[in-house]
Amino acid sequence: MTAFSLGSLLYEGKAKRVFATDQPDRVAVEFKDDATAFNAQKRASLAGKGACNCLISALIFEVLERRGIATHYLGLAEERWMVVRPVQVVPLEVVVRNIAAGSLCRQLPITEGTALEPPLLDLYYKDDGLGDPFLSEARLERLGVVNPDQRQAIGEMALAVNLGLRDLFGSVDLELVDFKIELGFASDGSLLLADEISPDTCRLWDRRQSDSSDRILDKDRFRQDLGGVMEAYGEVLKRVQGVCPEPRVYG
Ligand code: TMP
Repeated sequence: MTAFSLGSLLYEGKAKRVFATDQPDRVAVEFKDDATAFNAQKRASLAGKGACNCLISALIFEVLERRGIATHYLGLAEERWMVVRPVQVVPLEVVVRNIAAGSLCRQLPITEGTALEPPLLDLYYKDDGLGDPFLSEARLERLGVVNPDQRQAIGEMALAVNLGLRDLFGSVDLELVDFKIELGFASDGSLLLADEISPDTCRLWDRRQSDSSDRILDKDRFRQDLGGVMEAYGEVLKRVQGVCPEPRVYG
């Protein structure tokens, strides 16, 4: 590391590690090559995934920042590493669905590919031990992890992120089917978009392919054993890089 030195490991998740740094209010995130699905029952290591997702996330955070969405992102460090503002993560997985796929089609009689207009906003309680359960608004209120104003702000941010991502991906012939984001509160109390946005956390269908499995350019290739996972992630990176400026380097 050049602009800072690493401190202790603060948190390790399935795809990332978060470290303290020698600078106040700055943490370093390492994107791992580990891939998991089905609450980590399925695992693999995909060489290059960490670097790819780190770069895709950086490009996307910068695009969203330019659209007025506050994120934790501060800049790239070396390969697979980015510097971010530390946040108190809200224990919610916030999913926006533009097209029916995945768990929605397993749980309800809705055919895959059905357009969802307006998009569906689904909230899940982030707890691996409980399998990230779906939350009704009443359960969310009972749980008390956010107050009504914060719930409102989270919904608004998720829909603003959806518009930004749809514009970005749409401009490179990628259909944004759905995605998951995580948010957190910074030390000043502001709500920031956190975690990552990458083919691990989005469903992206290639509009240049009509075949229903060839068009998949996201983690569903891993979940469904379709092969070509890193080729798909590389294609997403190449397209997004083609329309975005170089992401800033921290320091
Ligand atoms: P789902 O259809 O499985 O509910 O997933 C909805 C979106 O959320 C999809 O883009 C994949 C993403 N996702 C994650 O990023 N992490 C997860 O743990 C799960 C279950 C989904």
